[in-house]
Amino acid sequence: MSGSTTNAGGSVTVTLDGTNKSMKLPLLPGTIGPEVADIRKLYSELGIFTYDPGYGGTAACESKITYIDGDVGVLLHRGYPIEQLAEHSTFLEVAHLLLNGELPTPAEKHDFEQGVMRHTMLHEQLRSFYNGFRRDAHPMAIMCGVVGALSAFYHDSLDINDPEVRRISAFRLIAKMPTIAAWAYKYAIGQPFIYPRNDLGYAENFLYMMNAVPAEEYHVNPVLARAMDLILILHADHEQNASTSTVRLAGSTGANPFACIAAGIASLWGPAHGGANEAVLKMLREIGHVDNIPGFLEKVKDKNSGVLLMGFGHRVYKNYDPRAKIMQHTCHAVLKELGIKDDPLLDLAAELERIALHDEYFISRKLYPNVDFYSGIILKAMGFPTSMFTVLFAVARTVGWFSQWKEMIEDPSQRIGRPRQVYTGPTQRDYVALDQR
Ligand code: CMC
Repeated sequence: MSGSTTNAGGSVTVTLDGTNKSMKLPLLPGTIGPEVADIRKLYSELGIFTYDPGYGGTAACESKITYIDGDVGVLLHRGYPIEQLAEHSTFLEVAHLLLNGELPTPAEKHDFEQGVMRHTMLHEQLRSFYNGFRRDAHPMAIMCGVVGALSAFYHDSLDINDPEVRRISAFRLIAKMPTIAAWAYKYAIGQPFIYPRNDLGYAENFLYMMNAVPAEEYHVNPVLARAMDLILILHADHEQNASTSTVRLAGSTGANPFACIAAGIASLWGPAHGGANEAVLKMLREIGHVDNIPGFLEKVKDKNSGVLLMGFGHRVYKNYDPRAKIMQHTCHAVLKELGIKDDPLLDLAAELERIALHDEYFISRKLYPNVDFYSGIILKAMGFPTSMFTVLFAVARTVGWFSQWKEMIEDPSQRIGRPRQVYTGPTQRDYVALDQR
């Protein structure tokens, strides 16, 4: 097969070598970013599929939500740079932006916040659901189960074709995730579940449910509440990553959003994705001291060791992840607020980053710190156990998943997701009777 682009006509011509068969693939222009060859008719016209494991060169959908330019380290939500949203906005405002396409007016902001904060409670019957888990269950396992179970509690709102049902389901999911997450934590440590307080801000309420006990008054530190809000903003959406694509694929069958988000949580759990923040902290503890960094990096560079520098590298960013920069600043602010002058893990992380960024292995592969490199250190300082790090990512990403799911459902060209394969197994053969094998 050979190909040539002719931008004037907005197409690329593909010719099957050794035949007289060729076809023009239309080039689809986005508002920004590279053009995309439309291969939908390739099989019907040329009888061939395309091969792209990991989908590194394949656009699976059209989207207006998030744009990433990984070469320069740009992240835009509905056109707004993440740096500006992090500085000026709040998580719920960003949630409105992702879901509805625009920053809210003051009246819309009020209604949206009320809409979310009036859905924070869980059905009382869900309380007993937690008792089915072992106390030492990983909270991500509990998240998968409880979020999936929400669909059993909202029979009235499973008609995904009804826009009002979609609106209420968004409120329910965004509102209940912090409660589900905080209760997973309380269950593990054997403390009573703390009910949400709708008079608090979103991040503030989450910290309240995580840290309060019924026996005492608890006031959330506003600096930490703001830091938590920022962490939620930074994780809110990231276009077609593994968990988001999982949500879209599950949703393409018409499955309800609670089930789809549970699928997203399962996909997020892996150490190559949302589990990386937990893995970073484990890695830093294993390295233990700056003197051990060179030895550790030698292992990372040895392909046979299977050791990766966790919190480094990204499928799309071939430059500094813009979220990592903001996270690094937040990390210092949180440690200062908590009166932690010297955090050995932070010092270790900073030195590891410095050395790696000057190392030919990482430079040549364009491996830079990603969002997870510093988030674990902040969360640990705030008192979160490592097992809760990925849970927090799931709380934040729920709005991104929901926005992408909603966009897909509202897209008239949406079809069930169904990739193809290169079959390399045996060709057809006859069954062999058991006594002849
Ligand atoms: N440490 C050492 N080498 C690495 C790393 C790393 N963290 N990441 C990539 N490489 C190497 C990789 O071995 C390959 O080397 P070579 O060209 O010699 O074969 C080269 O860099 C290109 O990497 P790749 O495997 O093509 O990258 P990918 O796009 O398939 O993987 C990644 C991206 C994020 C899965 C990977 O970089 C990784 O596993 N990083 C560590 C885990 C991590 O921090 N994940 C969080 C991602 S950001 C948050 C999120 O989206 O969830």
